[in-house]
Amino acid sequence: MLRIIAIDGPAASGKSSTAGLVAERLGWAHLDSGALYRALTLAALDNIGDAGRGTLKGMGREGWSGPRIVALAEQLPVRLVLLDDVFRPEVAGVDVEEAIRSDRVTRHVSGLAAIPEVRAWVNARQRMAVEGLEVGGGSGGVVVDGRDIGTVVFPEAPLKIFLTATADERARRRLSQRGQTVDGELVRRESQALAARDAADSNRPIAPLKPAPDAVLLDTTALTLEQQVARVVELARGRFPG
Ligand code: CDP
Ligand code: CDP
Repeated sequence: MLRIIAIDGPAASGKSSTAGLVAERLGWAHLDSGALYRALTLAALDNIGDAGRGTLKGMGREGWSGPRIVALAEQLPVRLVLLDDVFRPEVAGVDVEEAIRSDRVTRHVSGLAAIPEVRAWVNARQRMAVEGLEVGGGSGGVVVDGRDIGTVVFPEAPLKIFLTATADERARRRLSQRGQTVDGELVRRESQALAARDAADSNRPIAPLKPAPDAVLLDTTALTLEQQVARVVELARGRFPG
């Protein structure tokens, strides 16, 4: 049985950075499920377009249908490729790790992630990626981060972490991550954008953002990245001895 750590939480709570560093320290693989939703969003925007509205609202009837996005994903294809223990998103053979972080993708991703067929496709891809590790036997385990990893995708994961931090703190982190000035007005705006995405992710009917009943809740507002990584590694060593 492959060893899985599920890390979920709201936007910019530190999931991917924490998951990446924990995986590195344990010598495990890292899978960022948000990267797959983002890669699909990029592919859909570039190939189907947003009908000039600049938002996905109401797009269900205008081309952003689940079957159409899934067909596009298969055709291009949109894939996760394992490189040095890290799953990287690819669209039509091109690595899109940078491109998927744009504002345009960020604005549309929650709309696309609420579509049932899209979620089913992403979940199957994640499970296949993890099964591939098990067959290959190369990695000791995998750290997967997202919104529904502990609740839906890998509910059997022996260790589940739910990271939180206040919206303002998360906004400050996201701004400094992008190299932007962390000033009051920008923090306020970023904090509102994050809160809107969290609300969309938490209120959707399928796989809403919420902690699994057996998740360890970790409020990281007053923690450094190193402290939260150390805490998760400590929990992992306890849960996966040897
Ligand atoms: O890094 P950030 O927190 O900004 O977002 P992300 O992890 O890249 O995820 C982008 C979006 O994908 C989220 O806002 C969700 O709408 C969606 N997502 C999801 O629905 N389920 C997941 N397991 C991961 C991401
Ligand atoms: O994946 P998610 O959107 O949850 O967050 P992230 O992209 O991993 O983290 C957002 C930024 O917060 C990164 O630049 C982290 O280095 C930084 N950070 C953190 O994750 N935890 C702290 N305690 C302090 C900063």
